[in-house]
Amino acid sequence: MLIKRSPNGIELPFSSEITPREVFESRRDFIRQMAVGSIAGTALFEMANREAFSQTPGAQKLASTLNPAYALIEKKTAYKDATTYNNFYEFGTDKSEPAMNAGTLKPHPWTVTIEGEVKKPVTLDLDALLKLAPLEERVYRLRCVEGWSMVIPWIGYSLSNLIKKVEPTGNAKFVEFITLDDKKQMPGLRRPVLEWPYVEGLRMDEAMHPLTLLSLGMYGEVLPNQNGAPVRMVLPWKYGFKSAKSIVKIRFTKEQPRTAWNIAAPGEYGFYSNVNPDVDHPRWSQASERRIGEDGLFAKKRKTLMFNGYNEVASLYAGMDLKKFY
Ligand code: MTE
Repeated sequence: MLIKRSPNGIELPFSSEITPREVFESRRDFIRQMAVGSIAGTALFEMANREAFSQTPGAQKLASTLNPAYALIEKKTAYKDATTYNNFYEFGTDKSEPAMNAGTLKPHPWTVTIEGEVKKPVTLDLDALLKLAPLEERVYRLRCVEGWSMVIPWIGYSLSNLIKKVEPTGNAKFVEFITLDDKKQMPGLRRPVLEWPYVEGLRMDEAMHPLTLLSLGMYGEVLPNQNGAPVRMVLPWKYGFKSAKSIVKIRFTKEQPRTAWNIAAPGEYGFYSNVNPDVDHPRWSQASERRIGEDGLFAKKRKTLMFNGYNEVASLYAGMDLKKFY
């Protein structure tokens, strides 16, 4: 991606940053490990959650239950890094700009229209989306095509919950995600850095995979604007740009949809964009990555894993030449 890097150090304009999150996050993690699988533990887990929330005035909490299948035991990226080092071109192309500029985004009221090749098209408001399925916390690694990665506790549910409700027709082969296109709320739309609105797409079986998360929150709170409020995708086995932010429409199609980065640079960004250390970007290697937060002078890069380590998706691509379908 043709983006400038900037040092990460922007302070968020709300008081949640006054308390170092790392302190309660590590404590909460410890209690969570104990909590999985026991009723007494669950009570402790709730207490830990409440404690965390009480220390983040200004941010709207969002209750969820940790899904033990995705309780990834890896150090989580600090909240501050995850919310000040972002790609959200509708608010600027510099990593620090979304945190500074996304205050103009109004995530309430919000609707998502589900249309196209479905028997039951519907427009859902945020409340309906929040209630559509039980909210889970899932800790996912997300790797950007630029060569950095983060570990984030997302809140949401498998997109398949929503797909089943709208009953796709036999013609539905792909799903297209269309994001907000409003110059009043998104100053970056005035610059033709990408074709707007930002669009993304998945094959139906990818969209139905349990790992595919429709996300409404992170770190126990609703999504911050710069992270794609109020609703975004999270696809941990694909490069970060597949995880469309601030979605307003989900359309089921017969044909493979166009996607923002493929339109911008088809030779560099394909439709699939699975994390793959064996397929280099034309301008750089994809064999290793920098974990945000491990930036010290002597910090070692990590080896990038096939599908970002989520091998459960491998069968979706059986028989496909992933050098051709990058
Ligand atoms: N969604 C929209 N609407 N606009 C964007 O510019 N950037 C993508 C993706 N989703 C983007 C988007 C890219 S390049 C990445 S790496 C991830 O969002 C970054 O998500 P994060 O800022 O929450 O880490």
